[in-house]
Amino acid sequence: MKASEASRSPGTPAEKKISIVGTGYVGLSTGVGFARKGHTVICVDIDEKKIEKINRGEPPIYEPGMADGLKEAVAAGRLSATADLKTAIMDSDVTFISVPTPQSEYGSADLSYIRKAAEDIGSALRGKDGYHVVVVKSTVVPGTTEDIVLPELEKGSGRKAGDGFGLCMNPEFLREGRALEDFLKPDRIVIGSMDSRAGDAVEGVYSGFGAPVLRTAIKTAEMIKYASNALLATKISFSNEIGNVCKELGIDVYDVMKGVGMDARLSPSFLQAGSGFGGSCFPKDVAAIAAKARELGQETKILNAVLDVNKGQRQKLVGLLEKRADGLAGKKIAVLGLAFKPDSDDVREAPSIDIIGMLAERGARVSAYDPQAMHAMKSFHPGIEYCDKPADCLKAADACLILTDWSEFKELSDKDFDAMNTKLIIEGRKVLNPESVKCFEGICWP
Ligand code: UGA
Repeated sequence: MKASEASRSPGTPAEKKISIVGTGYVGLSTGVGFARKGHTVICVDIDEKKIEKINRGEPPIYEPGMADGLKEAVAAGRLSATADLKTAIMDSDVTFISVPTPQSEYGSADLSYIRKAAEDIGSALRGKDGYHVVVVKSTVVPGTTEDIVLPELEKGSGRKAGDGFGLCMNPEFLREGRALEDFLKPDRIVIGSMDSRAGDAVEGVYSGFGAPVLRTAIKTAEMIKYASNALLATKISFSNEIGNVCKELGIDVYDVMKGVGMDARLSPSFLQAGSGFGGSCFPKDVAAIAAKARELGQETKILNAVLDVNKGQRQKLVGLLEKRADGLAGKKIAVLGLAFKPDSDDVREAPSIDIIGMLAERGARVSAYDPQAMHAMKSFHPGIEYCDKPADCLKAADACLILTDWSEFKELSDKDFDAMNTKLIIEGRKVLNPESVKCFEGICWP
């Protein structure tokens, strides 16, 4: 660690001009969050449709609080979107890169978007006078910022990092569904910088957030992000493994983890067992850091097991259903919940994708309902029946699987399930209220 310190930064931030390259969940939440904090933000994207939407104050993604936050920021003139990266760089002092780093077919992260962003920012910097700081916010394997982003910036700009421009790595810890809230009230802000001038500039952008700031070397910041996601994913797979044993013993793993999580050394978060983690982060990030380790000749036994246990939960759920239903061929299975988590329309790596695939392979007919994610699921499973409400989904079903813990499912009662052929209900997420629904079981609970 080059310069490591933890401090609380009080006060209101001085207004900064910020550009953000890439307007996915992270880029847009960061933009709206910074605008809320009084900065002026220019979002850059290559997708013209997205740009038009953002400039009309309409978020291109579903995220609680985003619609109001974006509308407010656009109306106040504190946030705009453009495809013109060059002008965005000219009109800002700090540029955050938040382009995707998807998983390549070998499990490692695909860095082509980040390389291109660095190349373009470098060229744009060539025509600009004065100091500018570039901050990598995308999740990148340790070494990427210095080995890929830095040389591209130097090549494009014709300047040397340090005096010519500053470079930092500032990982994000936002959860989908709570992205704005997490951005505005972070547990910590990690700033990896190549020198103190660049790090101070980024810390200045975050002054007024009232969160502890950890200053590190760039590579350390990159690794903190992977280690954090890998440990959270490990907690989930651990709970799932214990949950599988609990299920055999007739014990509710939620009661067990409540007792475990009361230990202040552990925290009760991310101990909820079920059909496993999905999303664009945990599966990809754990695979990426394991792939990097392999490249370095290091074995990651724990991380490999975390991914194996996670995959196994999906098979376990289908196995349990198959056993209880006495085969699935020709049966109608109602799937409630498709998104990888509630309050999101995202189905990337969602357990529902694999589970529906396994049901179809076994000859079942699937009807599905999700309050937000049906549109996204259609590209993975176009042939299943999509229903406008749980009642249509459950009608004449031979069994029901609950795969996302949407709060509206908490309101379901025995009456809602009466329309099923057979009241066989299995939860992959603990959500039903046992006071209202008398007969159901969970993947890791009785
Ligand atoms: C995760 C991290 O929580 C964020 O800190 C991080 O910034 C983000 O990845 C990222 O790298 O961008 P996210 O994937 O949006 O955030 O959502 P989580 O709330 O972490 O949930 C991930 C998955 O784990 C979901 O499928 C969720 O249902 C599952 N989960 C979560 C469990 O199965 N059990 C739990 O106890 C908690």
